[in-house]
Amino acid sequence: MSEKDPAEKPFLKDRPAVCALAVVIVVLLLICMADEAMRPAVTSIYMSGAPNDIVYFSDPHLKDYNLDYINKSIEYINSLNPEVILIGGDFVSTYYEDLSLQKVWHNLKAPHIYTIFGNHDYQAGAGGLAGPSKMLKIATLANTSVEGYDIGMIRDDVTNRTLADELKSVLEDAGITVLRNEKAELDVGGIHMRIVGLDDGWAGLSDPKSVEISPYTDDCFTVYMVHEFECSADWDADLVLSGHTHGGQFAVPLLYLLNAAKILQISGFVEDGSNGKTPHYITRGLGGAGMSGIEMRYHARPEIVVINPSKEIKGSSIIFFDENKSYLRHT
Ligand SMILES: [Fe+2]
Repeated sequence: MSEKDPAEKPFLKDRPAVCALAVVIVVLLLICMADEAMRPAVTSIYMSGAPNDIVYFSDPHLKDYNLDYINKSIEYINSLNPEVILIGGDFVSTYYEDLSLQKVWHNLKAPHIYTIFGNHDYQAGAGGLAGPSKMLKIATLANTSVEGYDIGMIRDDVTNRTLADELKSVLEDAGITVLRNEKAELDVGGIHMRIVGLDDGWAGLSDPKSVEISPYTDDCFTVYMVHEFECSADWDADLVLSGHTHGGQFAVPLLYLLNAAKILQISGFVEDGSNGKTPHYITRGLGGAGMSGIEMRYHARPEIVVINPSKEIKGSSIIFFDENKSYLRHT
């Protein structure tokens, strides 16, 4: 009887130690990713002309298994004593459209709380290849110039306005004003602040031209909010805010190289004002869109953004802008 050639043996068959090590590494990696998803980082942005203590977050994606985490995040946000809270949308998550979870927002406290909606709030582009298909259509068909803005062709039968209407009602019961192609003008500590909140881009409903806005003036701090970066234009404003990307959620180094090269916009100041364009910040968001029963992230910690915090926030990363709004430095 001829013996089997050792070269034909499966590599791992006689190497239980290698198998055990691989399992341990995978389990440790999963534990680390689950831990990372529960530890939001704070980013402090200092901008001249902006009111103090504006908190911005996005993408909570409420599910029964992240409700406790979101509630703790709300407690932390309240502890910052925000004057204004801005939310970038995606309250619901695929397969978790139970709106009773959204009652948690009653716990959020600030004099002014505004939100926009994201694609999940309309169930738009939320499964399989629907997302990439939306991005391709936006890149090839939509007009995202300031003057000719038109994204209506992205809308399809999936856009669920009923869900969004019900969500609006729940959020407004909790004291959150939903802006759907609307603006708000407020006085925040003596500074005139204008918030332009656009409806969701992937749902094909973003329509900035329908918002009546007086010409830009230096004594007004103007913020535009649109859930998806690719649905933004270079509006005449002080700052544009988006979410949606979760910072890549599982951000292998290549993603950050593409982000730095502005080939892929996934987080941070994707426009920093240095080239004459309006600064545009994409937050990594709070939650995840997954359905695994556990939140996980890799190299893309959840994020809470604070603009002009009146008290230094220990442990936060810091971004300064100079008087001309152009990017200065990260620390
Ligand atoms: Fe989204």
